Amino acid sequence: MAKCQRNLFLSVYISVVLTDFQMFVVFGKPQVPCYFIFGDSLVDSGNNNKLVTTFKSDYLPYGIDFPQGVTGRFTNGRTIADIIGELLGFDEYIPPYATVTDQHISQGVNYASGGSGIREETGSHMGGRISLDKQLFNHYSIVSRIFHLQRNITFTREYLGQCLYIVNIGSNDYINNYLKPTFYTTSHMYTTYQYAKILVRQYSRQLKSLYNLGGRKIVVFGLGLIGCAPAEISIFGTEGGPCVESINGAVRHFNNKLKPIVDDLNAHNPDAKFTFINVTGISSQQGMGLTNVPSCILRSDGQCTQTKLISPVRSISMYYDGYHPTEVVNIHIAKMSYIAVSPMDASPYNISSLIRL
Ligand SMILES: *[C@@H]1O[C@H](CO)[C@@H](O)[C@H](O)[C@H]1NC(C)=O
Ligand SMILES: *[C@@H]1O[C@H](CO)[C@@H](O)[C@H](O)[C@H]1NC(C)=O
Ligand SMILES: *[C@@H]1O[C@H](CO)[C@@H](O)[C@H](O)[C@H]1NC(C)=O
Repeated sequence: MAKCQRNLFLSVYISVVLTDFQMFVVFGKPQVPCYFIFGDSLVDSGNNNKLVTTFKSDYLPYGIDFPQGVTGRFTNGRTIADIIGELLGFDEYIPPYATVTDQHISQGVNYASGGSGIREETGSHMGGRISLDKQLFNHYSIVSRIFHLQRNITFTREYLGQCLYIVNIGSNDYINNYLKPTFYTTSHMYTTYQYAKILVRQYSRQLKSLYNLGGRKIVVFGLGLIGCAPAEISIFGTEGGPCVESINGAVRHFNNKLKPIVDDLNAHNPDAKFTFINVTGISSQQGMGLTNVPSCILRSDGQCTQTKLISPVRSISMYYDGYHPTEVVNIHIAKMSYIAVSPMDASPYNISSLIRL
C-alpha cells in the first residue's frame, strides 16, 4: 500500500514536471545556435566505440530504449545531454566527435568519453579514454575548423559565445582512480578533503580553457552520490546503511568546493555565465519510489553483461547497470537543470534562463 502510494506520487510528480515542460520545447529553430558536450560515460554518445578499452557500451542491453538502438550510450535510453538538446530545440542529437563531419560541427560536438576524468591518468587501467584535457584539445581543433569555415572572426567569436556548453565529469576521478588504490596512487597521497581540493583546482583551470576557446554559457554538473551506486556498494559494503557513506562524504567535499569555484569563475569573467547543477540534491528528490537495484545482470566491473533480454525493472530503478542512471533519472536531472527554481538545485542560473542571458 505504502509502495503503491509512493509510485502514484512519483507518476503524478513526473507528469507535472512533464507538462510544465512542454511549453519550453520549441520546434524549429533551436534556442541556441550550437551545443557542445564534455564529460564521461554519463553523457558519452559513442566516442569510446573504436577505442581499445573495456569501458564501452556498444552492445545490448545498452540502448534498448534509444530510438537508434545501440550507439555507445551507457544507459537504456537518452542521456542527460540528449534530453537537454531536445529542450533546446535541436531536431537531432549532437554527434560524437569520433564520427562528426564538417557539415555538422557548427551545431555542436559531443566530446564525452566513458572512463575519463579531470585527471589525465583516470581510467587508464581499463585502456583508452579521452581525458578532459584531450576533450578540450579536440574542441580547440573543432573551433579552429569553425573559424575556417565561417571565414569571419568577429562573427565566429559572437557565435561561439551564444552556444551552450555542458561539462559533466569527475565521477571517474573517484571510481576509476581514488577508489582503486591498487592501480592509482592518489589515495596514498591525499585525504579525501585534499583530493577534492586539487581536483577542483584542476577542473577550474580546464573550465577557464573552455572560456578561452570562446565558451560563455557553461553548465557544470556536480557529482551524484557515487556511494549509492550498486557496484560501489558491492565492493565496499555499507555497514548496514543504504549507501557507502565514506564515498558519499568524499563526493560531498568535491561538490562543496565546486560550487564556489563556479561563483569565482563568474566573478572573474564578467562576460561569461557559468552555472552549477546540484545533481546530488536533484536526484535525491527522485530517490523516493525508485529502487537502486541494477536493471541488468552485472559483469564484475559493474557494466551489463551482453543480453537481448529487456528488463522491466528499468522503469522503477535509479540504475541501469552498476554505475549508470536509467533514462528515467536522466530525464529528471536534465529537466530540473533546465527549469529549476531553487538556487539549491541550479546556481546561479537554470539552463532556461542561462541561454537567454
Ligand atoms: C563579420 O561579422 C560581423 C558580425 O556578425 C558583421 O558585422 C560583419 O559585417 C561581418 N564581416 C563581413 C566581411 O562579412
Ligand atoms: C545540494 O542539495 C542538497 C539538498 O537539496 C543540499 O543539502 C546540498 O548542500 C547542495 N549541495 C551544494 C553543493 O549546493
Ligand atoms: C529559471 O530560473 C528563473 C530565475 O530564478 C526563474 O524565474 C524561472 O522560473 C526558472 N525556470 C524557468 C523554466 O525559467
